[in-house]
Amino acid sequence: MRKIELVELEQNNYFMREAFNTLRTNILFSGKNIKTIVITSCLAHEGKSTISFETSRSLAESGKKVLLIDADLRKSVMASRLTKERGITGLSQVLSGQVPTEQSIYQTQVEGLDILFAGPYPPNPTELVGSPAFKELIEEKRDVYDYIIVDAPPLGLVIDAAVMATVCDGAVVVINSGHIKYRMAQGVKEQLEKSGTRILGVVLNQIDRKRTIGGSSDSYYGSKYESTYYGYNGTSDKKSSPVGHTHKK
Ligand SMILES: Nc1ncnc2c1ncn2[C@@H]1O[C@H](COP(=O)(O)OP(=O)(O)OP(=O)(O)O)[C@@H](O)[C@H]1O
Ligand SMILES: [Mg+2]
Repeated sequence: MRKIELVELEQNNYFMREAFNTLRTNILFSGKNIKTIVITSCLAHEGKSTISFETSRSLAESGKKVLLIDADLRKSVMASRLTKERGITGLSQVLSGQVPTEQSIYQTQVEGLDILFAGPYPPNPTELVGSPAFKELIEEKRDVYDYIIVDAPPLGLVIDAAVMATVCDGAVVVINSGHIKYRMAQGVKEQLEKSGTRILGVVLNQIDRKRTIGGSSDSYYGSKYESTYYGYNGTSDKKSSPVGHTHKK
């Protein structure tokens, strides 16, 4: 397997670490059949790629073998963000049969964490992720890895995430706190349900603690943005369980 050196990774603040630990714990307790997870959101820039990577890293650090698939074939920035290496091959080439899978999965310096980057932008992204090749990839690799985390494009803009979710075990929806209207989140939920996807939970990202935690203006941990994770009970939004629980649909 090809090796790749990721750029020096920033240390997350206390709240971020706690949120990722909670997310990891929820995934670990989701059941042994939950191995392949799509991460999506309503709109762009809600934090999907950040959360996909950090969740994968967190799972790998807990001893799991993880494959992170960057499946945002439309405008991925993961390779340029995470490494300085050039000539990286990726998912678009694998799915179109140009490069063998094994040549495109990169072993990182984080033990247990391998990454399949997106590759060059293809003209037909939805077709590629909806192809039998994508299904075969997921089916083949689910026996090799403990978890496969799939970073998908925003479902409020393109259908790709719902298409990929049909061959995965569940989805996590990232919501940029304060920016997403209820109706839009509802639409994404419905779309995932229509494709038969189990929604594992919601990550409320970029919470401004100054506004949400009693309006206090001092931030002991020195960060404005945090994440938190809510399990999803599959029946009513109002009954979403608090941090630390997920429910079966
Ligand atoms: N909790 C957070 N606190 C601070 N910055 C964050 C947080 N989450 C994400 N960001 C920043 O917001 C920007 C967008 O995040 P990211 O690329 O992960 O979003 P995305 O949903 O994958 O976007 P896209 O839809 O373009 O793929 C990045 O610069 C990232 O570093
Ligand atoms: Mg992204």
